Amino acid sequence: MPASTKPARVAVISGAGGGIGRAIAAALHRDGARLALLDLEGAALEETRRELGATETDCLLLACDVTDAGAAARAIAQALAAFGQIDLLVNNAGRYQLNRLADPDAPAVYEQLYRINALAPLYLAHACREALVQSRGSIVNMASTEAFIAGSVSLGYTASKHAVAGLTKALATELAPAGIRVNAVAPGVVETPMVAHLTSQKRHAEKMLGRTPLGRFAQPAEIAAIVLFLASPAASYLTGAILPADGAYMLT
Ligand SMILES: NC(=O)c1ccc[n+]([C@@H]2O[C@H](COP(=O)([O-])OP(=O)(O)OC[C@H]3O[C@@H](n4cnc5c(N)ncnc54)[C@H](O)[C@@H]3O)[C@@H](O)[C@H]2O)c1
Repeated sequence: MPASTKPARVAVISGAGGGIGRAIAAALHRDGARLALLDLEGAALEETRRELGATETDCLLLACDVTDAGAAARAIAQALAAFGQIDLLVNNAGRYQLNRLADPDAPAVYEQLYRINALAPLYLAHACREALVQSRGSIVNMASTEAFIAGSVSLGYTASKHAVAGLTKALATELAPAGIRVNAVAPGVVETPMVAHLTSQKRHAEKMLGRTPLGRFAQPAEIAAIVLFLASPAASYLTGAILPADGAYMLT
């Protein structure tokens, strides 16, 4: 089939109503991809589609809780019914919450964080596997610096993001023979609603920036650009990689 008649690739993005997810959707839309956007609330997804200036034909909105394996599978089935193919899965939905062993609710919070950060990517990858085999597509997971190092008050987040790193490596190994690449981005602090409570606290922000050689936090578009690269033919020999995007925070 000549390149000009090849249908545009299809990307599934979870957490596409949030800061980084919306930027990833925008970058992939500019790149010509058709999109299936997942998030808890339809309203946030509507806002993303409005910002992108995308149409209903090339941007499907799927409000669902991706920690529910059945709901995740139904969303992927809807994306396939609408577009007939999936070329890229971006497992971006996630949550951060303070969590220490000393807290009375430590196990419950740990479990919730694990479900959204570590289990949901597995559910979506499982539901997309067959389609990705067909398209020889790729997966990009959203890790964190806490996939490498530990936060002192973020037990569940640290453990779940370490699990994202493990999932990335294991899936990269399993899926390589099928031509599917699996990588992850590990951002430091990115200015989004998720960390607004931290970046808006002057003392905390100064402490974090003092340990960040680049001297600033990341913008969502800077993380989206890395996702775009990982999902592109330019990264054709890259799989199982977990790329830190932290302004060298982890080197200090
Ligand atoms: N912002 C940062 O500093 C930072 C740093 C490192 C990693 N990350 C990771 O980047 C990803 C995106 O974070 P963000 O900063 O854009 O946060 P955000 O809060 O702006 O966006 C996260 C989105 O995920 C969605 N989501 C949460 N639970 C869901 C569920 N059960 N089902 C469907 N959608 C759900 C939320 O509704 C939200 O729209 C997360 O995985 C996060 O851990 C963020």
